Amino acid sequence: MPDAARLRLWLRSVGRSVFRVGWPRTDKDRAAAMISSFFLHIHSAKVQPHSLRPSYTLGLGLLSFYLFGVLIITGIALMLYYIPTPLAAYRSMKDLQFVVTFGMVLRNMHRWAAHVMVIAVFLHMCRVFFTGAYKIPRQFNWVVGVGLFLLTLFLSFTGYLLPWDQLSLWAITVGTNMASYAPWLGDYLKYLLLGGNVIGPATLLRFYVLHCVILPAIAVGLVGVHFFRVRKDGLSAPARPEPAPVEEERSGRFPASTRSYGLMALTDRPALPVEETDPEAEDEVMAWPHLLYRELIVLLALLVVLHVVSLLFDAPLEELADPTRTPNPAKAPWYFLGLQELVHYSAFIGGVLVPTIVVLLLLLTPYLDSAPRGVGVWFAPERRWANWIFGVLASVAILLTLIGTYFRGTNWAWVWPWTG
Ligand code: HEM
Repeated sequence: MPDAARLRLWLRSVGRSVFRVGWPRTDKDRAAAMISSFFLHIHSAKVQPHSLRPSYTLGLGLLSFYLFGVLIITGIALMLYYIPTPLAAYRSMKDLQFVVTFGMVLRNMHRWAAHVMVIAVFLHMCRVFFTGAYKIPRQFNWVVGVGLFLLTLFLSFTGYLLPWDQLSLWAITVGTNMASYAPWLGDYLKYLLLGGNVIGPATLLRFYVLHCVILPAIAVGLVGVHFFRVRKDGLSAPARPEPAPVEEERSGRFPASTRSYGLMALTDRPALPVEETDPEAEDEVMAWPHLLYRELIVLLALLVVLHVVSLLFDAPLEELADPTRTPNPAKAPWYFLGLQELVHYSAFIGGVLVPTIVVLLLLLTPYLDSAPRGVGVWFAPERRWANWIFGVLASVAILLTLIGTYFRGTNWAWVWPWTG
């Protein structure tokens, strides 16, 4: 055999040792590629067309995931330049701005992706609620999601201090003061976060370790559990009529409503309406290309928008942090400004009572509203009350955040944004 042909054969065998299936050309190959690839096997080989509709998921879960990926990659690059001591931290920001090639774009991408992720995760949670997708069998995944939402906030909060400028120092001062309003434990909690009584080098180191190691590690684990559950439970879908009993007897299978619950189907679980993916349903389509290409398009669109925004708009950087010069007003990071607005009326209500009740209500949502109706459609009439309650609470949270951001000035007095 000629040398070139032998080399081609050898290269092919090397390629096949990594990519077992090669570039798939038939549906059978595509299914095999999905199953045999580490990265792709998070998808099932076939999906329901309903789950592909952009108007159903709005792509928000996917977007949250991509943003998390962007944050990890840009965060690792930033770590190469960042030194977590007060003066050096601020100097790192200046270096990124003036010395490092594309350093400012890198910082901008990290900053804007972090802000957008908070919004995307919040909207994803709203989507899941308004489509009733937290109900059986996805209750636990909702709880995991609540953990991810809190983690997203805390990740963003701990990153806020790292530039060590006036903005970050005072935002974190206000934020950590809120923690101290908790009864009995408040002062300990604040001391634990700050590594002392006031924000200083120990705080910066703690926030750095939390932001770069501890919280991302927990988030990666939780995202893994979240995706595993999405894969096992399938994406929520509207109820489908139960197949005729005679057909089931002939096929000797569980009814569609129970089959996809796996072992759960064999327990004494109460009868459920049909709302789950039937793996053998004829209307399902191949995940490759239908789902995979859509995922790729969302990724590319996000990357284009993020690059453009990061080229056009710079992340803020004020003067070096100065603990002796308090700005007026001193504001928490924007996503805590709704709470700061409440703290303005009552420290206990805003700093402790409301956040505790909100988190508990979120965690208990799928267990308080457990009737398996109205799943898989936006604003199902059967769930009118639940949607109204959640909608009003979410709107109040948004309104308070907007008030804290745009309508509060010196001494937290009311100002109209357009009067400067
Ligand atoms: C880092 C944050 C998060 C990431 C990366 C993420 C990712 C995803 C993805 C990719 C999906 C598949 C469908 C879709 O795109 O909507 C999904 C579904 C789901 N997520 Fe999340 N999620 C996050 C946070 C949350 C939060 C905050 C909640 C709720 C409190 C939540 C609850 C759920 C539930 C219940 C499903 C199943 C929805 C269905 O079957 O229709 N997730 N998530």
